[in-house]
Amino acid sequence: MDSIVVKGNGPVKGKIPVAGAKNACLGLMPATLLSDEPLTLTNVPRLADIETATQLLRSLGVETSSLQDGQVLALSSQGADNPLAHYDIVRKMRASNLVLGPLLARHGKAIVSLPGGCAIGARPMDIHVSGLEALGARIELKDGYLHAEAPNGLKGAQIDFRFASVGATENVMMAATTAKGTTVINNAAREPEIVDLARCLTAMGAQIDGAGTDRIEIQGVDRLHGATHPVVVDRIEQGTYMLAPVVAGGDVELIGGRRDLLQSFCEKLEEAGVSITETADGLLVKRQDGPIRAVDVRTEVYPGFPTDLQAQMMALLSTADGTSVLEETIFENRFMHAPELMRMGADIEINGATATVRGVKQLKGAPVMATDLRASVSLILAGLAAEGETIVSRVYHLDRGYEHVVRKFRGIGANIERISS
Ligand code: EPZ
Repeated sequence: MDSIVVKGNGPVKGKIPVAGAKNACLGLMPATLLSDEPLTLTNVPRLADIETATQLLRSLGVETSSLQDGQVLALSSQGADNPLAHYDIVRKMRASNLVLGPLLARHGKAIVSLPGGCAIGARPMDIHVSGLEALGARIELKDGYLHAEAPNGLKGAQIDFRFASVGATENVMMAATTAKGTTVINNAAREPEIVDLARCLTAMGAQIDGAGTDRIEIQGVDRLHGATHPVVVDRIEQGTYMLAPVVAGGDVELIGGRRDLLQSFCEKLEEAGVSITETADGLLVKRQDGPIRAVDVRTEVYPGFPTDLQAQMMALLSTADGTSVLEETIFENRFMHAPELMRMGADIEINGATATVRGVKQLKGAPVMATDLRASVSLILAGLAAEGETIVSRVYHLDRGYEHVVRKFRGIGANIERISS
């Protein structure tokens, strides 16, 4: 297994291009199943999770070809006649569950393995299931698989989500595009990735209003046609790299960065003493003089502070001036990076869903272990400013969601290398 070695190397400076959004892509790719005509996605990031999603679609009979150094993904579902998403692939990536709605819409049936355990929480699918049942599907769990059937097709419905689940909003929105009649999703997720998926589905001929708000209305149409769609920039990758000059000092320009996708996060950084300037090419981030101020953070559904940036923020607040309280309201087990940061000298107290972080002057490099995708990159951020060497092991987690991570950090002057062990 590879490790990444980071040595604190003073302030960072330079430009980082922001890639296409992993989480947008994982929702867009299953949309190919809704039409027999080709769907082409551009600005696709080169990530392990995208490779897994491609494998899954191929197992369903979708033809896929990756062009232009992986940035363009051409998908064709003409021969996609297999409604079964096998455990062997689904267990590698929870987002495989986003084929459930499209398979049901395409075949009138779907057999999709439950993803199984995930480091950050149980992550049940009850909201997905109740939403699709409202559209007329019969769904039961057998041998670890969701067996879904809609022999008479799907019918539009009024659906009230108990929680604004991102994946459930995507599954139901895709299934509703060719259901008979009108579907309304109340308390829908509002993430930019939902807006991007709605844009793509609309380009394919779907009729969708309200994406990005908590009420999405979908008028069913007979069929969808092909389209070409550019994947939206990855706001979580963007936010992660925005923290590099804040943790280490210096200034970094995020090429393609967009403030509108991370409003809450940007406001919290400015509260902590960070300056964020919109430039012709993106966002310029620099730490103002003096220490970072401690700030309290509570993760929330969009447009609140993103849970996917909580670990990275904790790395920053570990050396802020004062005490910060972080509350994780989305996942029940998303503080696994805290003990690793404590190995580096961070002063963190975990109490259920709340982490109290007392800022220390400086962290010290140490061998640490990545436990999940976002935790792994928070340890690299901590290593940028730590005294000495930090060795992050199990970096396969990183490959899932960060394209060319060593190259991007090196590009701003970080002393970082990947070693095979
Ligand atoms: C998406 O996961 C993202 N993944 C996650 O990013 C992100 O953390 C999450 O949204 C929240 O923003 C993708 O888009 C591929 P949810 P998703 O359904 O759709 C509970 C990353 O690091 N819930 O909004 O699975 C669930 O257990 C990943 O890139 C139910 O209880 O998130 C969780 O506690 C991690 N029942 C909460 O809701 C359900 O049926 C949020 O889940 C569905 C969800």
